[in-house]
Amino acid sequence: MIESKSKNAAPETVAGNGLLHRRIFLTRGAALLGAGSLGLLTPTLAVAQVAPEMPVLAKVPGAALSGYGNRSVFEEGIKRYNIRTYPGTTGSGGSWTPLESLEGIITPSALHFERHHSGIPDINPDVHRLLIHGLVDRPLIFSMDALSRYPMVSRIQFIECSGNSRVGTAPKPVQMTAGGLHGLFSCSEWTGVPLSILLEEAGVDPKAGWLLAEGADSAAMARSVPMAKAMDDALIALYQNGERLRPSNGYPMRLFLPGYEGNMSVKWLRRIKVTSGPTMTRDETAEYTDTRPDGSSLMFTFPMEVKSVITAPSFGRNLQGAGLYEISGMAWSGAGKIARVDVSVDGGQTWGQAALSEPVLSKAVTRFRVAWQWNGGPAVIMSRAVDDSGAVQPNRAQFLAARGLKRNYHYNAIQSWKVAANGEVSNVYA
Ligand code: CO
Repeated sequence: MIESKSKNAAPETVAGNGLLHRRIFLTRGAALLGAGSLGLLTPTLAVAQVAPEMPVLAKVPGAALSGYGNRSVFEEGIKRYNIRTYPGTTGSGGSWTPLESLEGIITPSALHFERHHSGIPDINPDVHRLLIHGLVDRPLIFSMDALSRYPMVSRIQFIECSGNSRVGTAPKPVQMTAGGLHGLFSCSEWTGVPLSILLEEAGVDPKAGWLLAEGADSAAMARSVPMAKAMDDALIALYQNGERLRPSNGYPMRLFLPGYEGNMSVKWLRRIKVTSGPTMTRDETAEYTDTRPDGSSLMFTFPMEVKSVITAPSFGRNLQGAGLYEISGMAWSGAGKIARVDVSVDGGQTWGQAALSEPVLSKAVTRFRVAWQWNGGPAVIMSRAVDDSGAVQPNRAQFLAARGLKRNYHYNAIQSWKVAANGEVSNVYA
């Protein structure tokens, strides 16, 4: 019998300090390791200590039905955090997704990160309009009803703020959760009308190379978008995770530019002006340009680059004694699909490949997992993502050598977590 024979077989290691082969996550591999081997992930908790009792609440009728659901009261501690607003405002600033509390690849709409430049407008969809004008044959104005009659597509894709993770440039590692460090990043199913269909109907002038997208918020947030992107995979998004957009995500409609820095996906979209060149708006000149080590500025750096973060274990998710653990995290790239994620548990000396959980989608979160036989000694764990364009996530020293410290958009360096002998996890620069 395979099970009894292999019960004593040691799990196959693939890199130093106890990193196991990703084969452990395949059904056959788990059987070869012996019955209950995956149960070792929580060895003591799996053992019943007392006979189960009927919960008191099950003896009385439960709560009534409701028109719109809520999560369990026991989950209410999981919230967006780091909420930071500009002095004198209530709605301008950002909030972070608690990445380490999520599983799978979808961010619940209520936990999607926020970044607003003048608060969240309260827009009545019945009076909202989208104007397409500029270098077009026919300027067009769309109501919500009109837009709803066009063919729609759905895609699971991420949005990441250009300034996400910039805390990684701080001189000393800041002690925060994975979401606190990297949570200006979320992944949803977006449904809407391809922008290319609307632009074709308007008739784009051959001289047009760009467009201006402007929001209906009181900041009139506006960005220039290359025409090639608009005609490729841009959406006028109306739905998020199956329901209409949340107001904090642009209700009733937003531009959605897969893989591009978040603020180009202009929320509360009211106007698209087709232009020959970029408009040089405040939002792309005073902000969202990358100052280089020599003091010059790099403009129009749009795609978010390949990146990953381990969410378990991570700061605040400590280990409970030596043993077998699953290391799990998220990887993504604005260039396309994740091709590979390597994990190290010895501070980057040796690496082993993680298993990628299906589905692996373009410009979406890819969940990765690897098993680790922790010997109870200090360890530094890190993940390094590679995308299908061949781009490799840099380590922090490589990133800083190339980009400098002056203005730090597009930070995508490897995150390192130190696991102390007592199981505590902290942010370190390795
Ligand atoms: Co940029």
